[in-house]
Amino acid sequence: MNKKAILLAGGAGTRLYPLTKIVCKQLLPIYDKPMICYPLATLMLGGLREVLIISTPKDLPMLKDFLGDGTHLGIRIEYAAQPKPEGIAQAFLIGAEFIGDSGASLILGDNIFYGKLDFYREALARDRGACIFGYQVRDPERYGVVEFDTAGRAISLEEKPKKPRSPYAVPGLYVYDDRVVEFCRALRPSARGELEITDLNSMYLQRNELRVKLLTRGMAWLDTGTQITLLEASNYIATIEHRQGLKIACLEEVAFRVGFIDEKALAAIIDRLPKGEYRDYLQVVCEEGADETQVEPPPR
Ligand code: G1P
Repeated sequence: MNKKAILLAGGAGTRLYPLTKIVCKQLLPIYDKPMICYPLATLMLGGLREVLIISTPKDLPMLKDFLGDGTHLGIRIEYAAQPKPEGIAQAFLIGAEFIGDSGASLILGDNIFYGKLDFYREALARDRGACIFGYQVRDPERYGVVEFDTAGRAISLEEKPKKPRSPYAVPGLYVYDDRVVEFCRALRPSARGELEITDLNSMYLQRNELRVKLLTRGMAWLDTGTQITLLEASNYIATIEHRQGLKIACLEEVAFRVGFIDEKALAAIIDRLPKGEYRDYLQVVCEEGADETQVEPPPR
C-alpha cells in the first residue's frame, strides 16, 4: 500500500533553552548537519517520497527555507502548522487531507536512527494494521513503554509510566494503515491535554492489529531531548563519519543513492553549494556514481 510520510517537528524545545530561543530544536546541529536531516533521511531510505512537515507557525518559515518543496531531493515536501502542542497523534488530523486514503508513517523530528532499516521497510510493506518498534533503554520512564508476554506478544502500552513494566521504549517512528485518520478522530485528549500517540497505538493493540518489532542490538536509536543527549548524538555521528569518511543522513547523497535523483541533478546541486567539506564530499559521491552497497536500496 502506498504510504505518506509525516515528519513532526513541533514543540517549543523548552528543555533545550536557550539553544532553542532563536532556532527550533529540529534545526539545531547534530554534528555537521541540522537535526531534521536524520529523520528525513530515514523516511527517504524507507522509500517514501511524499512528506508533510508539521511544525509551529513560528518555526515553519525556517524549515521551509532549509528544505524547500523537496524537488531537489526528488521528493515532495508539504508543510502544515500545529499551532499548539496538542499531541503527536494530532499530526494525523492536521495531515488528514494530505494522507487521503493512503496509510501513513510518522517520524518525530528529534529521533535519530542509525543502522540497517529493514525493519522499517518491512513495516511499510504491510497493508493492514499498525507497526511500532521497541528499543531497550536504561531509562524507559522517559518514553512510551511496551510490555510483552512470555510469547513475545505486546500486552500493554503506557506513556511515560513512573514504574515501567519493561525496559522497552517505543521510538518515535510509527507505521499505520489507511484507518489512522479515522482512529485519531475518535481519540480524546489525555489529562495533559494532548492526543497521545500511545492511545492511538492502544486502539490498534485492542483490535489485535498492532505489531511491535524489537530493534536489535546493532541499531542505534538516539535521543536528542536534553543538552547531554544532544551532545552524545553529535559525538556518535562524528565518530562514525570520521572513522568511515562517509556521511550519515546527507540528504543529497541519500536521494542519489536511492535513485530519487540522477547524477545530472546531483551535479546541479553541487554547483550551487558553497565551497567546503560538504560540497567536496558530494563531489566524490557524484564521481563514484550510485553505489548501492553504500546504502540500502528502497523496496522494489
Ligand atoms: C514522545 C512519545 C513517546 C515516545 C517518544 C520517542 O515523547 O510521546 O511515546 O517514546 O516521543 O521519542 P516526547 O519525546 O514527546 O516526550
